[in-house]
Amino acid sequence: TIQYILVLAAAYFIGAVPFGFLIARSKGIDLRKVGSGNIGATNLGRALGKKWAVVCFFLDVAKGLIPVLAGRALVTENPTALELLQWMTIGCAAVLGHIYPVYIGFKGGKGVATSLGFVLGIWPYLTIPGFIGFAVWLATLKISHYVSLSSILAAIIMPIILACGIIILDEWKIENLWPLIVISTLMAMLITYRHRDNLKRIAAGTETRVFEGKEKRN
Ligand code: G3P
Repeated sequence: TIQYILVLAAAYFIGAVPFGFLIARSKGIDLRKVGSGNIGATNLGRALGKKWAVVCFFLDVAKGLIPVLAGRALVTENPTALELLQWMTIGCAAVLGHIYPVYIGFKGGKGVATSLGFVLGIWPYLTIPGFIGFAVWLATLKISHYVSLSSILAAIIMPIILACGIIILDEWKIENLWPLIVISTLMAMLITYRHRDNLKRIAAGTETRVFEGKEKRN
């Protein structure tokens, strides 16, 4: 329907707003020339400190959350698989906007914070797995001190948590919920791909590590 297409387009254009890039630029810094060169909260933290990283993180989460909450109006109370798929593509549009933003030459971020907002908005199916994924992110950061590795593991664990949910919960049926598995698997692949330089740096031992909110280069 026309409404769905409008929400989808709006989600992309909202997702594409490069908050990290804009905040850095407002302070006279080109974020692409700092640290990893990424426009996300982690790299903004390198440039401007933890406070701005947190601000950017919440803004990037909101870019995923708001379109998905708006999209809820387009699906019925107990969404069919097709409705769930449509609803989730709205979140995907926001994440793709963040990763490939039209406003700055399609060179965007890695999609982690915006994906978190997206999953938190798909109530109830992805909200709880989203919080578990966030807990995995925090735990991995505490153990490994790599932000990038934490992001990759949190993304990869999502389809696994969902599969467990479908196996364990009687009211969760694969006939209705397969879009959760399909989309979260694709998202995990995209997020891992966007971290390919980080993975190379981890392997080479040159990725920066975070200790008590402060960054150390190995
Ligand atoms: O969400 C991005 C994070 O996982 C890594 O950021 O700047 O270290 O590449 P960065």
